[in-house]
Formats: sequence, C-alpha cells, structure tokens
Amino acid sequence: MTTALITGSTAGIGAAFARRLAADGHDLVLVARDGNRLREQATELHDRHGIEAEVLTADLATDDGIETVARRLSDLRNPVDLLVNNAGFGNKGRYLDVPMADELRMLKVHCEAVLRLTSAASEAMRTRGRGGIVNVASVAAFVPRGTYGASKAWVVQFTQGAARDLAGSGVRLMALCPGFVRTEFHERAGMGTDNIPNWMWLDADKLVASALADLARGKTLSVPDPRYKALMGVVKVTPRALLGGISSRTGRKYGPR
Ligand SMILES: NC(=O)c1ccc[n+]([C@@H]2O[C@H](COP(=O)([O-])OP(=O)(O)OC[C@H]3O[C@@H](n4cnc5c(N)ncnc54)[C@H](OP(=O)(O)O)[C@@H]3O)[C@@H](O)[C@H]2O)c1
Repeated sequence: MTTALITGSTAGIGAAFARRLAADGHDLVLVARDGNRLREQATELHDRHGIEAEVLTADLATDDGIETVARRLSDLRNPVDLLVNNAGFGNKGRYLDVPMADELRMLKVHCEAVLRLTSAASEAMRTRGRGGIVNVASVAAFVPRGTYGASKAWVVQFTQGAARDLAGSGVRLMALCPGFVRTEFHERAGMGTDNIPNWMWLDADKLVASALADLARGKTLSVPDPRYKALMGVVKVTPRALLGGISSRTGRKYGPR
C-alpha cells in the first residue's frame, strides 16, 4: 500500500487526483484550509474505496501551514510515496490592480510552499530510494500572464531542474501544465469564463489520468491533451509581443468585486 499527499485536495484538479488515487487503492493525506470539507472528503473516499484518508488542515500561505505539511512529508515512519503540490488560486485583476498582499500570497503558495514541500518530500524519498512528485503548474507558464504565469513558469523551471539534479536517486519529479479546467478556480478569483471557447476546456479526471501516465513514463513535463500540445507548439514560434496580447485577453475577464 502506498500513500499520496495532495494539497488543495477538496476541489477541482486536487479532488480529481484524490478520487483517482483512492480508486487505485492508495492511502491519502488530504490538505486544504477548510477542515470540515476535508473531513467529509476523507470519509467519502474511505467509505467508497476502503482506503485510509488522513486530514491535514493547513493554510499554505502561512509558515505554520507549510511547516505542518513539511513535517508530515519528512516522517519516515509514515512515508509519503507521491506528493501532488496542487493548491493554488488566481487573483482578480491585472498587474497593479491586484493588491501587493495578494501578489505576495500567490508567490508564497505557488512558489515558496512548492519549494519547501518538494524539498521535504525529496529528502525523505531520496533516503528511501523512491517516490514521485507532481507540481501543478499551468500552460500559463509559457505565456506572459502577470504574477500567475510568472509563478507557474517558476514551478516548471524549478521542477525540471530538480528532476535533473535528482536523476538516478529514485525520486521522480514532474511539472503538470493543464489548460483551462472547469473547477472552482475561476469563480473564486472572480473571473468570467464566457470568453473562453468551449474547445479549450479540459476534463479534470482525464487530465489526472494523463498526468499519472506521464509520471509513470518518467516525463518531467506533462501538457495533457493533444489540443494543448498543439497550442504549445504554436506558442513556441509566436512572437512574444503578439503572444502577450492574446494571453492578456483570454480568460481574464474580471467581474465586479
Ligand atoms: N482550473 C484551471 O483552469 C487551471 C488551469 C491550469 C492550472 N491550474 C492550477 O491547478 C491547481 C488547482 O486549481 P483548481 O482549478 O483545481 O482550483 P480550485 O477548484 O479552486 O481548488 C483549489 C484547491 O486548493 C485549496 N487551496 C487554495 N488556497 C490554499 C491555501 N492557501 N492553502 C491550502 N490549500 C489551498 C482549496 O481548498 P481551501 O479553499 O479549503 O483551502 C482547494 O482544495 C492550481 O495550482 C491552479 O493554479 C488550474
């Protein structure tokens, strides 16, 4: 029996990871801020799949929250075999419209928490000679798109660099870059989605299946779905100025606060 720890497990992509890993028979450590929702999720997954689901209530925008999760990842008596750094969010508004405190909170959750949790997990996994880490970035990592895109670009570069440094240690690291997925993300950020064409939406369960297959293949970067693979091919050859114009319009319609 192996154990997976998922941050941001209660909604969207994290919940899809939790469903799939529980169905595959993995015990889980579920992490988010809303304790009631976590406990309900743990009970449901335990009852449905007969797995053990532990709950860790932690706010990854705080040092205490990050330390709580890092301690759990370092516990070699109850080892974690797979870490999914998934917790994340969008801010409402463009650069300079977003309060500095929110920009910094994003860097804390998307970058500092990912760095510290990846490091805690990698150390423990290297000691055991095995383990996997999926860091959820975004295709926004490849286009100019405010602090969000910049933070996800960091996730991609950091993860691929760490994967190279840890090659041969038994620890696999992979950055996962989803396109648009219908979750609570856009509503939480106060973003309108009616200007995002239907073909751009991905299914969270299919995304997770594809990500886990890529991890098993030893990939360090996963861009699930042929539509986004093709789109990223186009992005590579598109001039940055044009790319910036398109990306700053797509999916960035902000409603009233
Ligand atoms: N949806 C998309 O279109 C899309 C596309 C590309 C990449 N992504 C990335 O995918 C990841 C998951 O996004 P999603 O769309 O599934 O979002 P979501 O539906 O809003 O779920 C976010 C999850 O993260 C948790 N969370 C948020 N802030 C947290 C914090 N400070 N500490 C601990 N947990 C926190 C939430 O639970 P609590 O509120 O209880 O803490 C929730 O479980 C994010 O990293 C996002 O950037 C999303």
